[in-house]
Amino acid sequence: MIVAIDGPSGTGKSSTSKAVAAQLGLSYLDTGAQYRAITWWMLSNGVDVADQEAIAAAADKPSIVSGTDPRQPAISADGLDASGPIRTQEVTAAVSAVSAVPEVRARITELQRMIAAEAGGGIVVEGRDIGTTVLPGADLKVFLTASPEARAARRSGELKTTAGRPVTDLAATQQALTARDKADSSRKTSPLKKADDAVEVDTTELTLEQVIECVVTLVEKAA
Ligand code: C5P
Repeated sequence: MIVAIDGPSGTGKSSTSKAVAAQLGLSYLDTGAQYRAITWWMLSNGVDVADQEAIAAAADKPSIVSGTDPRQPAISADGLDASGPIRTQEVTAAVSAVSAVPEVRARITELQRMIAAEAGGGIVVEGRDIGTTVLPGADLKVFLTASPEARAARRSGELKTTAGRPVTDLAATQQALTARDKADSSRKTSPLKKADDAVEVDTTELTLEQVIECVVTLVEKAA
């Protein structure tokens, strides 16, 4: 059972994917964390993230290792735990540019397909291009959406809990999210896009529990 969950940020993708995987005993892969980890490695190793050629030349260098336990999704770059650093503003601001480079996408896509192929009992893979490009033969494809206001409110709630400080500027959060979605949706290689055969779930008016229940039902139907 391969489940692809795509959509822009702030739609509850990660929380939903982890919970669905844990509830159904499936593995879990956060592909955004992989793009964030390679971005963090580049920033930490002096790669100019404004220079596409430099990014392309470095794409194969770091080893990126993802854990697939939904209760403890680990991520490392060259053996260093990246789970904290990949959530910083610096990485968030640079990740769309790094992930738009075709060499980076080819490298990470290959890794994702390998992980999915090795997940014996099935896997939930979340990202932007899983249903369209990485795993077009997935047994179930879900595309999560939500209004820009709801997404910004959720994201600023998350920032508050992860960084331990209040994020009062909702407008700035919404602007940053919109800019990242625009970059992700308009890039040439493998943009953020709903697959034709994906089930779209608008989460604006739903609680996280309702979204989880909805996706679990869809997986059970697809099994
Ligand atoms: O999901 P998350 O917000 O952590 O993703 C971070 C970034 O990684 C996205 O904004 C996008 O640029 C990139 N990404 C991607 N393809 C994926 C998953 C994430 O390009 N499948």
